[in-house]
Amino acid sequence: MYKQIYLDAPNVGELEKEYLNKAIDSGYISTIGPFVSEFEEKFAQYLGASKAVSTQSGTAALHISLYELGIGKGDEVIVPALTFIATVNPIMYVGAKPVFVDVDMNTWNIDPDEIEKNITEKTKAILLVYLYGNPCDMEHIMKIADKHNLHVVEDATESLGAKYKGKFTGTFGDFGCFSFNGNKIITTGGGGMVVGKDIKRLEHIKFLVNQARDESNGYYHPEIGFNYRMTNIEAAMGLSQMTKLDDFLARKKEFHDIYKEELKDIDYISFQTEHDNANSSHWLTCIMINKDVNISALQKLLKEKGIPSRRVFMPIVEFPPYKKFKKGNFNNSSQIYNSGLCLPSSTLNSKDDIYYICNVLKDTLRIVN
Ligand SMILES: Cc1ncc(COP(=O)(O)O)c(C=O)c1O
Repeated sequence: MYKQIYLDAPNVGELEKEYLNKAIDSGYISTIGPFVSEFEEKFAQYLGASKAVSTQSGTAALHISLYELGIGKGDEVIVPALTFIATVNPIMYVGAKPVFVDVDMNTWNIDPDEIEKNITEKTKAILLVYLYGNPCDMEHIMKIADKHNLHVVEDATESLGAKYKGKFTGTFGDFGCFSFNGNKIITTGGGGMVVGKDIKRLEHIKFLVNQARDESNGYYHPEIGFNYRMTNIEAAMGLSQMTKLDDFLARKKEFHDIYKEELKDIDYISFQTEHDNANSSHWLTCIMINKDVNISALQKLLKEKGIPSRRVFMPIVEFPPYKKFKKGNFNNSSQIYNSGLCLPSSTLNSKDDIYYICNVLKDTLRIVN
């Protein structure tokens, strides 16, 4: 058997242990402690955002963003059908209605023309996703949002470090939401972040995630809040991971470039395309196999050679709680789901591993159908 290959496993080591020990030695292991604000400051600084507020998860970051914008019952939120379920569930948490639109076949991201077609007098926000790290057509989307006076929340959980026209994803709309789950670009074990420009709103989010506690008044709670805070231990881990972020991004791009080069002669394989002047985070390199191939059978054969892989997300409109919102055509999302495959992209892999994967994939595709 070839050595262990990782799909999306976290890359943590001695530095993380050092930071974690510092957090433990300080006695601050829970939601109070200096690493939390230090991580928030470093994160905002990296992205060029006015402020960042840490949360318990990316899902919590998305939920609190919609909540802060006052989105709720009777409101519609436009969202792509092709994403992870955690993008969409927060729309339901606040009692709004998700309006699903199809994605663009090339970028796999929300199609701006579809956004425009689905705007009604009830539309309050666009909740977009940078799928697998690939930037959306932000110029077009922000124009639509401005024209129709819509909020924009960015699910940038997979796109930390990705840029569109020189600007980091997560810094275009009202709020950008990030995840530090174990398989993300950087990890805190589990956690999230909201960034934005409006300091007042972000301060309010900081207050809401702390049970809406007015600390100047002891245990006084003038609003209904949430316990959505990150811990000092998680933030310590985040700080150590931040020092490696640019290396991780460079490595993921290197892997992506190898995949593209090595598979370029297979005319039925395509990759997500990037807009001009956009740089994906390449969180996961995914391909479409535009040929009659049973993806599950292919996965099984790859697994036998020690290569883990993952299906592309199933369109959300296919899940029982969301079927009733399936209105219109989701052909692109379905096609990408049916023929898509995510390839090993963890920075624990070596370049040789990626060459090995490409060779096995090419051999396997010759026999599978
Ligand atoms: C597109 C997308 N949205 C939201 C999330 C939710 O993040 P978390 O797992 O930190 O709640 C994830 C990752 O898990 C994701 O991939």
